[in-house]
Amino acid sequence: KPRILSGIQPTGSLHLGNYLGALSQWVPMQDTYSCNFCVVDLHAVTNTKDHKLQQSSDGLREWTLSSAALYIAAGIDPEKSNIFVQSHVSAHSELSWLLTCTCPMGWMDRMIQFKEKKASKGDNVGLGLYSYPVLMAADILLYGAEKVPVGEDQRQHLELTRDLARRFNDQFCTGSQYKKLCKSLSLPTYPVFREPEAMIVKEGARVMSLTDGTSKMSKSDPSEASRINVLDPPDVIRQKVKRCKTDNFEGIIGAEDRPEARNLITIFKAVQPDRDPAEIEASVRDMNWGQFKPVLAEAVIEHLAPIQKRYEEVRGEEGYLEGVLKRGGDRANEQADETLKRARAAMGFVPRF
Ligand code: TYM
Repeated sequence: KPRILSGIQPTGSLHLGNYLGALSQWVPMQDTYSCNFCVVDLHAVTNTKDHKLQQSSDGLREWTLSSAALYIAAGIDPEKSNIFVQSHVSAHSELSWLLTCTCPMGWMDRMIQFKEKKASKGDNVGLGLYSYPVLMAADILLYGAEKVPVGEDQRQHLELTRDLARRFNDQFCTGSQYKKLCKSLSLPTYPVFREPEAMIVKEGARVMSLTDGTSKMSKSDPSEASRINVLDPPDVIRQKVKRCKTDNFEGIIGAEDRPEARNLITIFKAVQPDRDPAEIEASVRDMNWGQFKPVLAEAVIEHLAPIQKRYEEVRGEEGYLEGVLKRGGDRANEQADETLKRARAAMGFVPRF
C-alpha cells in the first residue's frame, strides 16, 4: 500500500480548520493507504516564550494527549493506522539536523508562513520557528510517504520537502561509491528519500477566522472567538457563531468578494458531507444572517457531538491511549530508524559499532 504521513501541532485545542482541512480527510484514507499520523509536539515548542505553552509544561503534555485522543475520536483507527507522538521517535530530531546542514538559507528565507509569523511577532521569534519546515521534511521523509494530506497553508512546506529530498539524493546517493557502501552494509541501493506529494482537499482546505474572513482560522490567534474548537460545548459554539462577523449584503449566497459569507457556507457544507452541496445551498438561499446563524450552529454541533462523545470515552478508559501511543511509537521507531541509518551512511558517518 502507498504510504501517508501527516500531523497536527498540539499547541492548543484542535479547531474546525484542523478538523476539516486535515483530520477528517485522513479518515477515509485508512483503507487505501498505509498511514502514519503523528502529534507533532517538537513543532509545538517552536513557539516563542510569550506563548501559553511556555508558561506551563502541563499545557504541552495535556494538548499532546488530547490531540491523540481526538485523532481516535474523529475516526482514526489504531488497528489500521499508526498513531504516535513525534518526540517519541528521536530519528525526527536527528534527521532534521542532517537536512538542516544540506539546506541553503535562501530556501528557508522564502517560507511564507515564517515571514507572516515574523511580521506579527517581530523579534520574538526563535531559531526553531525559522527551521521548522526542515523538521517537517524530516517527519515526512523518514516514512517514505508518497502522499501528505494537509490544508492549503502547508503547500509550500511540501515543496521544500521535495527539494530537500532531491538535493540530498543528488548529493549523496549517486555514484558507485554509494552503491558499494550500501551493499557492504546490506542496505538497499536506491536513493534514500522519496519525493512526497501534497494532497489538498477542495472543500475545507482553508477555513477562515470567524472574526475576519480574510485570515485563516488559527490556534495562534489570541481571540478565542475567532475559532470553533472541536471540543467546544454546544453553548460555546452557539455563542461564537452568533457573534461571528458577517456582511451587509442581502441574502447569504451570491455576490462576489464576500469572504465571511463564503467561509460560513463552506463550513456549513463541510459539516454535512452526506448532503448534496447544491441542495444545501438551495435550503438556505432565502435566509438572512439572523436565520442562518442558528441553523449553522446546530449543524456544527450535530456533526461534532459523536466525536466529543467518543473523545470522552477514549480519555476515560484507563491506559488505552497510552497503549495506542506505545504501539504506534514502537512501529514508527522501527520504520524511521531504517531510513535514518541509510541517510547517515550516505552522508559518510561511521556506522555504530
Ligand atoms: P498545523 O498544526 O498548523 O495544522 C494541522 C493541519 O491543519 C491544517 N489547517 C487548516 N486547514 C484548513 N483551514 C485552516 N484554517 C487550517 N489551519 C490548519 C493544516 O494545513 C495542517 O494540515 N507544519 C504542520 C504540522 C506538521 C506536518 C508534518 C503536517 C508537522 N510535520 C508532516 C504534515 C506532515 C502544521 O503546523 O500544521
